[in-house]
Amino acid sequence: MIKDSNIKLEGFNYSPYQIIQKKRDGKELTKGEIEWFINSYTSGDIPDYQMAALLMAIYLKDMSVEETKFLTDAMLYSGQVLNFNDQKVIDKHSTGGVGDKTSFILGPIAASCGVKVPMIAGRGLGHTGGTVDKIECIENFNTSLSLDQLQHNLDQTNIVLIGQTKDIAPADKKIYALRDVTATVESIPLITASIMSKKLAEGTSGIVMDIKTGSGAFMKNLKEARALAKSIRNTALRFNKNIITMLTDMNQPLGNAVGNSLEIIECIETLKGKGPKDLTHLSVSLAGGMIYLAGLSKTLETGIKMAKNSISNGKALAKFRELIISQGGSGDYIDDYTKFPVASNIMEIKAPQSGYLNQMDGIGIGLSLVDLGGGRKKSTDKIDFAVGIIVHKKLGDKVTKDHSLASLYYHDHQQEIAQAICHKYQNEYVVIKSTKPKQMTPLIMETKINWSK
Ligand code: URA
Repeated sequence: MIKDSNIKLEGFNYSPYQIIQKKRDGKELTKGEIEWFINSYTSGDIPDYQMAALLMAIYLKDMSVEETKFLTDAMLYSGQVLNFNDQKVIDKHSTGGVGDKTSFILGPIAASCGVKVPMIAGRGLGHTGGTVDKIECIENFNTSLSLDQLQHNLDQTNIVLIGQTKDIAPADKKIYALRDVTATVESIPLITASIMSKKLAEGTSGIVMDIKTGSGAFMKNLKEARALAKSIRNTALRFNKNIITMLTDMNQPLGNAVGNSLEIIECIETLKGKGPKDLTHLSVSLAGGMIYLAGLSKTLETGIKMAKNSISNGKALAKFRELIISQGGSGDYIDDYTKFPVASNIMEIKAPQSGYLNQMDGIGIGLSLVDLGGGRKKSTDKIDFAVGIIVHKKLGDKVTKDHSLASLYYHDHQQEIAQAICHKYQNEYVVIKSTKPKQMTPLIMETKINWSK
């Protein structure tokens, strides 16, 4: 293990201490320094504590466009970079939010319409849940396939869902887990490099990006979200990838379910055509973007129509069943929700007064799930799939005193923590006023389509 000794790489002397110190003091790192640090961390030569220190320095001092480019490239080439040379290979990624579960809906929709979707996703990050954690509530679902298996499944079913591996984006696998527990998530260079190292390694010809903004997102306002969208867009175009960026609202949980099993059940309901309106709308819009980028529709609007049809004709649901079976799970989960681990205690969180729901604290709700064990506080924590929250009242809804705002799913031994969450939800996470909120933010605020050529 390296502590502070100088390490030689390609004739240069580098010191982890000096690189951390340089960034801490707000100076620009060179390509060599960034590459060396990332490679040495990925290989295990630099320990977690030094990487954590560098991440915090980047979080606090930011990175230039050039540094972000070097970081993204170093993380991308830490593993293999696939290239399918196929216009139909398209993926979507989200910057993360509370109750954000669209991948399980739009992936099967797009795949059932002929798009090839090699989805490399992440685990929970900060107050947001992770796609890989969520799908693992289905027993035996294997999220670490080999590259040969990935290719085989993509050929057979048009869709694969895996996490970062030792072969693809290994640097992000380690750095992502560290950021999750060191409060170093909300950084444009770190998010750009994390997302794009995974997405570029997948060998897609195009990417649909869902950039979230609001109280439950990492980017709290439109200005920050636009800056992140620009950084991601520029990276995609530098690699000749077509890209659609949608800026979407995250001032409240997406859909109603927050928590691993509960979210997958809600996705199955959505694929059956019985999902919440906001979740359905966003999922078909993003899927429509994937269909359009794949060249399977003439316009984005036609792509969205095709996406809606694949729900109504049952093809998207059949594709989700195929995905589960192809990665080792049982298709019975689609028909029998009792197979999902769901906590048996339910506490109703009652409205403390009558009025209209004017504000929701997405981070507070997301962190409540972490408190219940549905997310990690340290990287070795095991996820509890069974706990969660079903939100009954959303922004602009009329609420009546003592009627339920949300239901909390928890275990016998969690009585005290459930009470504490209930209290915070009533007094901190929601604001109830006597008048309706003046203006509701549209779910999809901006859409930009960029073709690389
Ligand atoms: N999703 C990722 O993959 N990485 C981030 O940093 C944020 C969201």
